[in-house]
Amino acid sequence: MSLVLGLETSCDETGIGIVRSGPDGAVLLADAIASSAPEHARYGGVVPEVASRAHVEAMLPTLERALATAGCSLADIDAVAVTGGPGLAGALLVGVAAAKALAAGLDKPLYGVHHLAAHVAVDTLEHGPLPDACVGLLVSGGHSSLVAVEDPAAPRVLGETVDDAAGEAFDKVARLLDLGFPGGPVVDRVAGDGNPLAIAFPRGKHDDGSYDFSFSGLKTAVARWLAAYPDARDVPVADVCASFQEAVADVLTAKAIRACQDFGYDTLVIGGGVAANSRLRGLAQTRCDAAGLRLRVPRPGLCTDNGAMVAALGAILVGRGATPSRLDMPARSTLPLPH
Ligand code: KG4
Ligand code: ZN
Repeated sequence: MSLVLGLETSCDETGIGIVRSGPDGAVLLADAIASSAPEHARYGGVVPEVASRAHVEAMLPTLERALATAGCSLADIDAVAVTGGPGLAGALLVGVAAAKALAAGLDKPLYGVHHLAAHVAVDTLEHGPLPDACVGLLVSGGHSSLVAVEDPAAPRVLGETVDDAAGEAFDKVARLLDLGFPGGPVVDRVAGDGNPLAIAFPRGKHDDGSYDFSFSGLKTAVARWLAAYPDARDVPVADVCASFQEAVADVLTAKAIRACQDFGYDTLVIGGGVAANSRLRGLAQTRCDAAGLRLRVPRPGLCTDNGAMVAALGAILVGRGATPSRLDMPARSTLPLPH
């Protein structure tokens, strides 16, 4: 058994997780998070400099909270995992520097992990070890990728967004409707009172045979649709949210399920902030049931960025005796997965 500490600072959440890994998989002991999201709200998006500074301030208090929740001390930690990329360069550097200091000071191995791979691995904390192979749908503010997960540390990219990420589309539509930032949770909530069939918004790249996504046309269609209302007070906001959300959930789930069928993989894992979306979760479940596939989606709190996901992937690496990263490992804002 070993205790793995995971540090996540790729965007605006300072996440520190602690998992205990053993032969039967990993158990989550602590998942402490400090978010600088409120500081970015008035800019309508994450301000990198503000995020980096917030990580520096939040790092030690968040670490102390995680250790207290797990009921352990730094001396008990057996390995340190950290998001090495992709993400905001300055933000990543804070986590990577802290992880290196901890690994060096404690004389324990350091594991740099890929942020998107960690979004898949976190599901092991809820639903046990991953199957030998599965398809992952990773949808966040920065990414929308469909991956084949044969090696949990390095999922293979099958398709990606060619323009906006799914979460970005949620955030932009929320801005068009003046609903605040981040937009995903509020669009999700408002959509609950709307009719998803009220407006037939376009499904980008739906029938093109690829595994790629496109959301900028959808965002433009929403903008054009809203522009037709001379008075913003007349806009049926709930119907717009529900119909927009339906279009996103429709294309994401259709392509993810086709990938499972094409590759003969019987499990779909969904991760990333947008995986918290209630309609995406519901439609994915309905369609996986119909196709005889197993759907694995972590609880919403583990879908958005957190340290537990990094610790979960670190535990997989420790478990298989992977070679640790070097203490001079870089933080990489761009870190492509294999294709
Ligand atoms: O994974 P994440 O926390 O950070 C990134 O790596 O980007 O994802 C954040 C994104 C934001 O765009 C946010 O609007 C979106 O996830 N999001 C949601 C929901 N909760 C968060 N989108 C749709 N529905 C939600 N319930
Ligand atoms: Zn993320």
